[in-house]
Amino acid sequence: MQVTAVYPGTFDPITNGHLDIIGRGVHLFDRIVVALLQNADKEPFFPLEERMAIVRSVVARFPNVEVDSFDGLLVDYARARGARAIVRGLRALSDFEYEFQMALMNRRLEPGVETVFMMPGEAWSYVSSRLVREVARLGGDVSGLVPPEAAALLKARYAAPAGTR
Ligand code: PNS
Repeated sequence: MQVTAVYPGTFDPITNGHLDIIGRGVHLFDRIVVALLQNADKEPFFPLEERMAIVRSVVARFPNVEVDSFDGLLVDYARARGARAIVRGLRALSDFEYEFQMALMNRRLEPGVETVFMMPGEAWSYVSSRLVREVARLGGDVSGLVPPEAAALLKARYAAPAGTR
């Protein structure tokens, strides 16, 4: 049986930690659908199309990875895509409570989809999209933490005058 997994998130932007999870997941699942949330409550910094373009370009090397977007309940999307698993990365204990709640809520809503937690390489254990954006906003160097496509876009965006970002 072919097993499809959905790897959902805001990916604002995708980091090397996310990519590390995808790189591990491609050996476990027949297909991974990286699914970007369209209307996140947290108002993403990058518009959906830009977030998707970065993800598309960095996962192009994986033949069994697809990039898509979704809105509404994640489990409805997973069901519609025929996915049996939701992949989530766990970096540290601080991630656990939120992830635990989401996993159990998703299981209640759709018992046929199992959440699978994966740990990124320890080099990425402190890397988050939020921290990367903050460092970039304050002029710090984020190369090596995110794919070059994302680093370039962050640099360009924060170099632009505030009203035009
Ligand atoms: O990694 P992120 O950016 O925090 O991703 C959060 C995401 C997209 C996985 C989560 O917000 C989500 O699943 N949203 C879809 C709405 C939904 O299904 N909510 C109930 C989750 S229990």
